[in-house]
Amino acid sequence: MSIISPTAEPTIEQPSPEGTRLGELWSIFPEESGCDVDGSLTVGGVSVNELAEQYGTPLHIIDEAGLRRQARRFVDGLRERWPNSDVLFASKSLPIVGMYRLAQEEGLSIDVAGGGELKLALAAGVDPERLHFHGNAKTDAELQDALDAGIGVIIVDNEHELDRLERLLTRPQRLLLRVIPGVDAVTHASQATGGDDSKFGLPMDQALRAIERMRAHPLMDFEGVHLHIGSQILGTEQFAEAVEKLSTAGHFNTYDVGGGLGVKYTYSEQAPSVDEYLDAIVEAAKKHLPADAKLMIEPGRSLVARSGVTLYRVVTVKHTGRVFVAVDGGMADQLDIALTQQRYEAVLANRLTEPWTETVQLVGRQCESGDLLVDGAPLPAAKPGDLVAMPVTGAYAYTMANNYNGALRPAIVFVADGEARLVARRESYDDLLTLHEPAFAAELTHSFRPIHNPKLKDTQ
Ligand SMILES: Cc1ncc(COP(=O)(O)O)c(C=O)c1O
Repeated sequence: MSIISPTAEPTIEQPSPEGTRLGELWSIFPEESGCDVDGSLTVGGVSVNELAEQYGTPLHIIDEAGLRRQARRFVDGLRERWPNSDVLFASKSLPIVGMYRLAQEEGLSIDVAGGGELKLALAAGVDPERLHFHGNAKTDAELQDALDAGIGVIIVDNEHELDRLERLLTRPQRLLLRVIPGVDAVTHASQATGGDDSKFGLPMDQALRAIERMRAHPLMDFEGVHLHIGSQILGTEQFAEAVEKLSTAGHFNTYDVGGGLGVKYTYSEQAPSVDEYLDAIVEAAKKHLPADAKLMIEPGRSLVARSGVTLYRVVTVKHTGRVFVAVDGGMADQLDIALTQQRYEAVLANRLTEPWTETVQLVGRQCESGDLLVDGAPLPAAKPGDLVAMPVTGAYAYTMANNYNGALRPAIVFVADGEARLVARRESYDDLLTLHEPAFAAELTHSFRPIHNPKLKDTQ
C-alpha cells in the first residue's frame, strides 16, 4: 500500500517528510510509484525490497502502466492533431523483446538501426510492414535480411546504400531519405545529429540528386524525407525549425521528423510535455508541409526514460574527506552518464522518508574514476545492504550495458498492478564464458604456451 503517491504533474506542493525532497522526486520517478508504509519505494504497486530479493541487483524496473500511458499520449496526441500520422518507437532506447511487443500493442510502428535490433523486433512478432530501418552504414547482409523479412520502409542514408539497394532489390521497396537539415540542436555534443557536420544523412544538394536517382529506379518507391536533429532536446522551437528545414527538400508524401524530445532527469530540470512537443511540431507542419502528407515522429528517450528505475545494492561506504557510497553496478550498466555527463538523482529506496543528511558521491564498481553515478547525491547516511534507486533510467541504460570488469547485464522486470514479470534475465557468467569457447579448443590452448626465443635468453 502506498502512503504517498505521485501524479503526472510535478508535485512540489505534496507534503515531503521533513529533511527530504520526496515531493519533488515524484515528478521524475515512474508515474506508478509510491512510498510503502515501511518507507520503501514501490513501482507498479510492488516494493523494491521484494524485487531486489526476487531478481537481485542491479535491476532495471519498468512501470508498465506508465509506459503504456506515455505511448498513448504520443499516438493519440499526434493522431488528433494530424490524422495521417505514424509514431515510431525508436527502439535503440530500449531494444528488448518485451518493449517491442508493448510498442506494437499500443499502436506504434518501430524503428530499428542495425541487424540486431531487426532480429529482436522480428523475434518479438512485430509486423515487418511496421518496421523502419535506419543506419548510416547498413551492410549488404543487413539490407538483405531486412528485404527478406519484408521490411516496411528503409531510410536511406547515402549513395553507397543506394548502390547496394540497386544490386539487392528484386521487388518494389518503400524508401525515405535522411537529410542533414543544418539545425544545431542545443544538447550534449555527442547527442546532436542535425548540424552541417553530421555523419548522418546527406546535405540538401546531394539529397536532391539521391532523390532523382530513387525516382528513376523502377523498384525504388521513394516516399519522402527524414531527419533527426539529436536527443535530449529541451526547447520545442528547435523541432519547429527542423520541420521548416525539412520542407525545403520538396513536396513529398511523407515527412519523418525523427525523435529527440528531452526528459526531466533532476529536480531542477524542466522538459516540455508531450502535448507541448506535438503542438510545436504540428503547428510548424501546418505552416510548411503539404496538408495531405503523412507526418511521422520517432520518440525513444521521452517514451521510455521515466518509466524506468535502476535498483542497486550499496556495497561499501567510505569517509575519506568525501563520502563515497559504492553500489553493485556502475558505468557497465549506466554508461550514458559517463558519455554525456547528464546529471541524475538517486534515493535510498528502502529508507525513503528518512532525512537526507549527507551529500555523497554515488559511485559504481568499475575501475574508472569517471564511474560516478551522481556527483553530490543528498541521502540519509547509507550503509551496506541499503537499496539505491536511480530514476529516469529507462532509456539507453540497458542499450549501452557492457561487460566492463566482467560485469553482467542486469535483468529487466516489468511491474504493473502489484505484479512483476521478468522480461530479460540477468546475464550469467556462463553467458560470458560461452563467447570464449573457441579459446578452450585443444589446439588453441596449445598455441598459448610460451614460445622459447633464444634471443631473449637472459630475460626468459
Ligand atoms: C534516427 C533516430 N530517430 C530517433 C531517435 C530517438 O531519439 P530520442 O531517444 O532522443 O527520442 C534516434 C536516437 O538517436 C535516432 O537516431
